[in-house]
Amino acid sequence: METEQTLVLIKPDGVQRGLIGEVIARYERKGLKIVGMKLQQLRRDTVEALYAIHQGRSFYDVLIEFMTSAPIVALVIEGRNAIELVRMLNGDTDPTKSQPGTIRGDLSVNVTHNIVHASDSAESAKRELDIVFGPEERYKYNRVDEVILHPTVV
Ligand code: RTP
Ligand code: MG
Repeated sequence: METEQTLVLIKPDGVQRGLIGEVIARYERKGLKIVGMKLQQLRRDTVEALYAIHQGRSFYDVLIEFMTSAPIVALVIEGRNAIELVRMLNGDTDPTKSQPGTIRGDLSVNVTHNIVHASDSAESAKRELDIVFGPEERYKYNRVDEVILHPTVV
């Protein structure tokens, strides 16, 4: 599996509950690399573009209102299988199904206020990253533990 990039948003509830560090630490400890990061209050048209697939769903208006209500932290997370790994760390959308050990399973009880967003496929990741991050906002650097995280088999 080649290296992937995925978009994570720490949603307004995560920021307002003081969970930015808690959430970021989980991705870092897993061995994923943060290659872009910014705090910003998203414009309505940006959120509508990100969640275009949900237009017309019963929860759409509430979701747009929520996502524009306070600042979010946007992250570009990179690593092998990053898209799937981040979704696994985030846990299920349904708070009655998200497992202990996941961000949602440990820290949230609500289906809308569920702390994090993450891209769900390579196509979504590319589309969503291009909406939120410019190319100059994604950095290239080495983590010092990469050689241990990804040992070369001889
Ligand atoms: P996300 O896109 O935020 O990473 O979450 P997800 O893939 O796990 O869930 P998705 O089905 O894409 O839904 C997007 C967000 O909409 C809110 N939602 N509310 N009231 C409801 O039934 C409901 N369903 C979804 C959640 O904030 C969810 O993360
Ligand atoms: Mg989704």
